[in-house]
Amino acid sequence: MATTAATRSVKPVLLLMSVQIMFGLLHAVISEEENLEMERQLRVINKPPIKSFKTDYGDILDCIHIYKQHAFDHPLLKDHKIKMRPENIPKSMTAEGESPKLLPDNIKCPPGSVLIKRTTKEDLIMANKMKALGLNHPMNPSAPDANTATVRYSKHNFGARTTMNVWGPSTLPRQASFANLWISNGPSEELNVVQAGWAVFPMLFSSNNTRLLTYWTGDGYNTTGCFNYLCPGFVQVHPQITLGLVLDQLSVYNGTQSDIQISIIKDGEWWLQLFNQFIGYWPQKLFFYMYGGANNAVWGGLVICPSDEPSAEMGSGHFPKDGLQNKSAYFKDTQIYDGARFTYPSPDQLVLCSSRPDCYGAELAPGVAPNTMDLFYGGPGQCHI
Ligand SMILES: *[C@@H]1O[C@H](CO)[C@@H](O)[C@H](O)[C@H]1NC(C)=O
Ligand SMILES: *[C@@H]1O[C@H](CO)[C@@H](O)[C@H](O)[C@H]1NC(C)=O
Ligand SMILES: *[C@@H]1O[C@H](CO)[C@@H](O)[C@H](O)[C@H]1NC(C)=O
Ligand SMILES: *[C@@H]1O[C@H](CO)[C@@H](O)[C@H](O)[C@H]1NC(C)=O
Repeated sequence: MATTAATRSVKPVLLLMSVQIMFGLLHAVISEEENLEMERQLRVINKPPIKSFKTDYGDILDCIHIYKQHAFDHPLLKDHKIKMRPENIPKSMTAEGESPKLLPDNIKCPPGSVLIKRTTKEDLIMANKMKALGLNHPMNPSAPDANTATVRYSKHNFGARTTMNVWGPSTLPRQASFANLWISNGPSEELNVVQAGWAVFPMLFSSNNTRLLTYWTGDGYNTTGCFNYLCPGFVQVHPQITLGLVLDQLSVYNGTQSDIQISIIKDGEWWLQLFNQFIGYWPQKLFFYMYGGANNAVWGGLVICPSDEPSAEMGSGHFPKDGLQNKSAYFKDTQIYDGARFTYPSPDQLVLCSSRPDCYGAELAPGVAPNTMDLFYGGPGQCHI
């Protein structure tokens, strides 16, 4: 199937220049004042741990008292009563399959506490600067300047679930490469979004490992929302799985594929599930336009890069046209949640989009279930965008 090019707005020269200036500033030195402010912010974000672990990747994972987590610093969540799992979704429906081991067994929080990756000063410096400079905007797959290879389903839904293979696309320090499921609703300037998947994002994590990454916004990626736990919002309930964890089982080109299954489903709150485990949720109070569900589900790859360097790889770094099975990045078995059950979208409800088909491909191919389509996407990048 042919890849369709999205309508692309002509990029003004000013925008290209401002992107370069932005990336220059990312490397600016911070003042003593900024440093103190940063330490104050870190004390707010990182609550006193009950217990801590250090991973082989140098991450510190803290056990935080469930009611003391940063989420509850959000003014809308002052009297929020925590839920430990969806209340209306039958266990049988969401407990299918096994969850492979993602972290060592000894990493487990005591009852009443949850596992949260500690935010470092470097994480915060980068995240603050990216936000101040408007760099969250390219996280929006609908932004005219986004570099994406995706499928869009634009009908009412209460979320979706999908299985994606995990890769380690090579990115330069100022670039990022994502595979995400986006659920959204609302007018573009106030777009409500919850999104989750994996990413290689050196600016955010000071490492080029592939990690579990989420984002939310209540106003079109402008002022509200953030990655993972960087701002109050996402309520963690899981004692053994944290956002930001390293996904170290990567797929091998022309070899064994390594999958993760992600679900984002509304049951009052917007729940995030990894395999059969509920990690936590984004309270519906954060989303003015998503009380009654969402109107879009998008899945696929997205790349962020400054305009002065060749762009990062997406997915496996290979085009779908160069081979699908065991070679291309994919989203398989993607199903829409209608509030009662998961159903496959019919192929004619899927709109394929690649913003730069010469750099990143997107292709639909029949899935295992009858009359369903899987997305294959990705490419080597290396173009100036
Ligand atoms: C990640 O970084 C390490 C060390 O800096 C480097 O050896 C490796 O090639 C990088 N991997 C990718 C996929 O860029
Ligand atoms: C972003 O938020 C600021 C402050 O609320 C507002 O002035 C600005 O118009 C918003 N920008 C967009 C693109 O909505
Ligand atoms: C892919 O693997 C098969 C065997 O599994 C091998 O015959 C083939 O040459 C490989 N292709 C590439 C491009 O590596
Ligand atoms: C993909 O890999 C699996 C296991 O690694 C193998 O059984 C299968 O034949 C491969 N398929 C193709 C089309 O190469």
